[in-house]
Amino acid sequence: MKEKIRQLVKERNAVILAHNYQPPEIQDVADLCGDSLELSIQAAKTDAKVIVFCGVHFMAETASILSPEKTVLLPRENAGCPMADMVTPSALEARIKELGPMPVVTYVNSSAAVKALSTICCTSANAVKVVNSLKAEEILMIPDKNLARNTAKKTTTRIHLWEGYCPIHDRLTAEDVLRMKKAHPEAVFMAHPECRPEVIALADISLSTSGMIRHAMESDRKVFIVGTEVGMLYPLQKANPGKVFIPASQAMSCEDMKKITLEDILNSLEHLTGEVKVPEEIRIKALSSVERMIQLS
Ligand code: 13P
Ligand code: SF4
Repeated sequence: MKEKIRQLVKERNAVILAHNYQPPEIQDVADLCGDSLELSIQAAKTDAKVIVFCGVHFMAETASILSPEKTVLLPRENAGCPMADMVTPSALEARIKELGPMPVVTYVNSSAAVKALSTICCTSANAVKVVNSLKAEEILMIPDKNLARNTAKKTTTRIHLWEGYCPIHDRLTAEDVLRMKKAHPEAVFMAHPECRPEVIALADISLSTSGMIRHAMESDRKVFIVGTEVGMLYPLQKANPGKVFIPASQAMSCEDMKKITLEDILNSLEHLTGEVKVPEEIRIKALSSVERMIQLS
């Protein structure tokens, strides 16, 4: 199956991008794995004709925003992000009206139509930098209330929240973490900024998914408790064979990130199915907020 996929990748002049949470066999067949920011940058600069996005819908949309001349394929059309669905363009418009004019910082985990109403995008890797770059007194940050609260602790900008969250990261409680820390007192606790603030308060370090891989590689410590989606254990272990990675909670599994199979990739490449194309009117508006973020990075 992998050989067939790689053969088709060549024939179609394609590139397979996979998020760090994707299943091991998907990461192994991909050309590049990464966090949301790295994948956006890669989608903008690849010269392949076809981008096969192994992740969730908003990621493929971001690729389509950045590379409209390319065919962007999401091998499983119903792979979405529940957090991205927590903000709609009309609800955002109503909130902007209520708050008055101020910059809107939108986490990339959102639809293209929502990005089109935003000032700038951010990811978990650059949220503080993006907010500070605006030099604004106050901003609205959507849709992740946890990311917004965690960012607010590192900036003087007043941040208005949106009541969205990642159901997977929000599931991790301070009690879970204290239990794990007690069982593994020698471990470093790494947490993703989508976790609740009380969880981040217990973390030794808070990083994006690729940030976690780099941190584990650079650290001289051997044992790590991983406070993010359980798919991260695979790339962490692959990059750090001599180290031990323990999930903070086995319950942190994102169904949507596990939908795509090797068969889906093969089908999608063979028949060019699952195309994600952002309508031009929305794309043009969304592009400026995504590009602003990429330029800053
Ligand atoms: P990053 O890989 O950018 O840290 O994002 C995590 C995530 O939840 C993506 O859906
Ligand atoms: Fe969305 Fe959370 Fe799944 Fe990432 S892990 S795709 S933020 S639901």
